[in-house]
Amino acid sequence: MSKLIIEGSRRLRGNTKVQGSKNSILPILAACIICKDECVIHNCPNILDVRVTRRILEYLGCKTSFENHTFIVNSKDIFKNDIPDFLMREMRSSIIFLGSLISGIGSAKLSLPGGCELGPRPIDIHLDSLRQLGVRITESHGILECDGGKGLIGCNIAFSFPSVGATENLILAAVTAKGTTVITNAAKEPEVIDLINFLKKCGANIRYSHGGTIVITGVSRLHGAEHSVIPDRIVAITYMAAAAATSSSITIENVIEEHISSVIPIFEEAGCIITAKGKDVLQIDSPTRPYFNRIIRTMPYPGFPTDAQAPVMSMTSVADGTSIFVENIFSNRYKHVGELLRLGADIKVEDKVAIVEGVKKLSGAKVTAMDLRGAASLVVAGLGAEGVTEISGVKYIDRGYEDIEGNLSKLGAYIKRI
Ligand code: EPZ
Repeated sequence: MSKLIIEGSRRLRGNTKVQGSKNSILPILAACIICKDECVIHNCPNILDVRVTRRILEYLGCKTSFENHTFIVNSKDIFKNDIPDFLMREMRSSIIFLGSLISGIGSAKLSLPGGCELGPRPIDIHLDSLRQLGVRITESHGILECDGGKGLIGCNIAFSFPSVGATENLILAAVTAKGTTVITNAAKEPEVIDLINFLKKCGANIRYSHGGTIVITGVSRLHGAEHSVIPDRIVAITYMAAAAATSSSITIENVIEEHISSVIPIFEEAGCIITAKGKDVLQIDSPTRPYFNRIIRTMPYPGFPTDAQAPVMSMTSVADGTSIFVENIFSNRYKHVGELLRLGADIKVEDKVAIVEGVKKLSGAKVTAMDLRGAASLVVAGLGAEGVTEISGVKYIDRGYEDIEGNLSKLGAYIKRI
């Protein structure tokens, strides 16, 4: 099991380029199944979740290649409709194959996504909405069998919660359904819009209104397309938190300001100066010591993203003041708190609320990552801590961050993988 060793309290400096978005590329690669043609996807991050998705695509019968951040997939010879348990368990978000298999093949057989590091991961909204389109779904012994029968029929569907995955699955199922599907209270995340933009290049007929209503008029088939995924807004926020936790000034390239508009005021409140330095380039100049006294509530987009909660908490744990986090999206997303306490942070958790009292300094320790964004928060905390921090469970960070030690070393951090 590899570990990351960080010698903290070093100022960062220079430029970093943000990778393509993990939460964009995963549904887009699943969508390629529907095209039965060659798709070329650029700016694809070289992360573990993409490598697992590639294994799933090849298991299904697709031809793939992936080099220099360009992923090429041709699904014309696809011949399977099932994803075996060992692959489903490697990546919870493989539930996104449900909608694309039903559209592309007419049926799907997947094992239920295990509960994962963020607590139970129910898929009731996914299943209820697919059933409304006419998908016959049976669940037995942890296996989901879905049958699109003679084809799906579009209808009006109102989501009880703007679930990102359920929105994506429903779009993927509806693009080749007969008639029109109207989804209200759909997720508005930039990654959902990126998927819609890709599908429209493939010939799908989708209209999106900013009120969270999506209108999909089914077409008989989709064709291949070329697309470049948007930058990863959570990776960008992680680097901003690293800069603020080490009182550094860095330039971050490939960051779409609109995508992090709910987070910029948080850093400015903490005393950071954020300036636009050109198209999709931000500079962050951090104070010697951030100060922070406010409530951060995680919300669906465009609210404060739940994925940023952990990395930003590491920044506030070394800021003057008291910050309060309210995690409204996932039921178990404070696993990193226990590890931050080992580094000397002062955090109290009660249900979905975490109260963070800023401390003068964190001090290096051995800590263990237990989920992807928790791992990122331990890296941010280690960079700001005095002494050496050893982080195990690095496979979690590799799921979503490409070459994190290479990128941070280029910014002057001392971080090694052993
Ligand atoms: C996507 O997960 C992202 N993953 C998550 O990023 C992100 O945190 C989340 O959206 C929220 O923005 C990918 O895109 C691959 P949801 P998803 O369905 O689709 C409940 C990361 O770190 N819910 O919007 O699973 C659910 O339990 C990952 O990059 C139901 O109750 O998120 C959760 O509490 C983590 N029933 C809430 O809704 C359902 O049928 C949000 O889930 C579906 C969801």
